[in-house]
Amino acid sequence: MSAVVVVGAQWGDEGKGKVIDFLSEQADVVVRHQGGNNAGHTVVVNDQEFKLHLVPSGILYPDTLCVIANGVVIDPKVLLEELAYLNNRGVDTRRLRISSKAHVVMPYHAKLDAVNEDRRGDQKIGTTLRGIGPAYMDKAARVGIRIGDLLHPEEFRERLARVLEEKNHILSRAYGVEPFAFDDLYTTFLDYGQALKPYVADTAIIINDAIDRGERVLFEGAQGTMLDIDHGTYPFVTSSHPSAGGASIGAGVGPTKIDRVYGVAKAYTTRVGDGPFPTELTDAVGDDIRERGHEYGTTTGRARRVGWLDAVVLRHAVRINGLSGLAVTRLDVLDGLKELKIATAYEYEGRPLTEFPDSAWVFRDAQPVYETLPGWDESIGTIRRLEDLPTNAKNYLKRIEAVVGVPVVLVSVGRERSSTIPLRELF
Ligand code: GDP
Ligand code: IMO
Ligand code: MG
Repeated sequence: MSAVVVVGAQWGDEGKGKVIDFLSEQADVVVRHQGGNNAGHTVVVNDQEFKLHLVPSGILYPDTLCVIANGVVIDPKVLLEELAYLNNRGVDTRRLRISSKAHVVMPYHAKLDAVNEDRRGDQKIGTTLRGIGPAYMDKAARVGIRIGDLLHPEEFRERLARVLEEKNHILSRAYGVEPFAFDDLYTTFLDYGQALKPYVADTAIIINDAIDRGERVLFEGAQGTMLDIDHGTYPFVTSSHPSAGGASIGAGVGPTKIDRVYGVAKAYTTRVGDGPFPTELTDAVGDDIRERGHEYGTTTGRARRVGWLDAVVLRHAVRINGLSGLAVTRLDVLDGLKELKIATAYEYEGRPLTEFPDSAWVFRDAQPVYETLPGWDESIGTIRRLEDLPTNAKNYLKRIEAVVGVPVVLVSVGRERSSTIPLRELF
């Protein structure tokens, strides 16, 4: 097995960073292929916490090549800060490669993100305000600036002049916001280009060559299936394709080269940002899970909305991604709860609904149909073998497999790299 994609099966923050770090021990190459620094991936090794936004979570292994591929949108300032942060903590980042085709998140994108959200009022998406949507809009509108452009002063000058004129027009005329000065942006981003130059490469060649040599390549999804611009809860989604197909386009790797896709899911559900969430718990049980799980966003610090596990969402993730299995994280957070619920279907206008509806308003008004299972009293954080888990924890996992329809391939019982129970060979 040489190419494995890991995606979020819910609304992001499932613990992809932790799972990728765990699998990276066996990987030769780890690739980020979509999203930008809206992502926040946490890795904990020997009590040391690393928060990564753009750099792949394989970076903590000294021999793993890490790639930021064409499908990612890069804020160069954030990336350079992240590299400095890693270097200061003793992590060697020279094994990073950045696609010349990745689009650049410019300061006017973040500004537009903010004014767009303001204008939406109570229909706001609750974006991370990192400029991600506007950067992907410019990519699709064919006025984006790519990392490679920053290395060509004359071409960059021309492209920036053209696009900035339009952005300043919109910002000042429509929103009364101060326009951006061309010279400042131009020189700052030329400097960023020079700082990133040693890392810039044609990453599709690097990744395909690695696969052809039989090396193990791991694709690190950001966000989650329910935030996919096509397959998620549109319009409350991000502007990229967090589902597995995004790896193919976002890295320039044909679908025939991908061997396995794993979905990461929490043992319950969270969502940060606005939009429908059928199994949301707005009561004391939800507050309890939020506090015991420290459910506050890695990127924005916002409190995450918390709810029961939703098997309808997970079956949708299985279908859209072609999941080979599930990695279930944060099982330890449920320790001590008397009972656990799994939504196995919804009800809409008195009728049963077994699959994720293709209509946003049906999903908004769908009521979960729950199955209740007994919890366990023990603390499971130090357990390293499936057979040592409490019977009710094992039964909960078995029930997840039955209602979702794919095997659980890994269980995570804590933040540490070592708090992981792999259930089969994953590569
Ligand atoms: P990602 O965006 O999918 O990489 O996830 P985040 O890093 O944003 O959020 C997941 C959080 O859960 C992080 O703080 C992780 O350290 C933590 N985490 C991951 N797996 C587990 C687990 O099994 N148990 C507990 N208690 N925390 C976990
Ligand atoms: P990781 O990779 C959770 C959410 C935002 C908002 C919506 C759109 O850490 O799982 P955007 O800034 O992308 O335009 O915001 O998507 N969102 C995430 N939620 N985890 C993430 O990334 C997210 N990235 C974006 O909260 O609802
Ligand atoms: Mg996150």
